[in-house]
Amino acid sequence: MSLEIINSYPKEKRYTLAILQDIQREHGYIPKEYMEYTSEYLNLPLSDVYSIATFYKSLSLKPKGKYVIKVCNGTACHIRDSISILKELQDILGIESGETTEDGLFSLEIVNCIGACALAPVMLINNKYYGAMTKEKVKTVIEDLQGVSANV
Ligand code: FES
Repeated sequence: MSLEIINSYPKEKRYTLAILQDIQREHGYIPKEYMEYTSEYLNLPLSDVYSIATFYKSLSLKPKGKYVIKVCNGTACHIRDSISILKELQDILGIESGETTEDGLFSLEIVNCIGACALAPVMLINNKYYGAMTKEKVKTVIEDLQGVSANV
């Protein structure tokens, strides 16, 4: 299906980013074979496509976890100690921001304001907001998600 997306673009270099964004949207990351196909399709060196794919934070070369946890560190959240929420998540999951757990369940990211400052400190897991976070709440939320996944 991604090949159709790629093929729908004119074969011009300026569409590289748009193509990669479409692939990212469909797969959650940029699989190597699609990057190679993009390079052939646009007649660009693979290294050019690669540098665009690695330059933009919104693009990822690795698959993300089933649950993508975004910890807000905008001003309102930062003032309310979002960093301790982040540290708690790092401790529980054993990963740093930008990484994914080995079981493929969780990815962790730090983001700027996600528009829910009244609920600070906030984290977003996939499309769900978790407000007024505390270390205890973090633990419960992660345990719940681990439990849900174990029962599927
Ligand atoms: S600063 Fe965190 S939601 Fe606005």
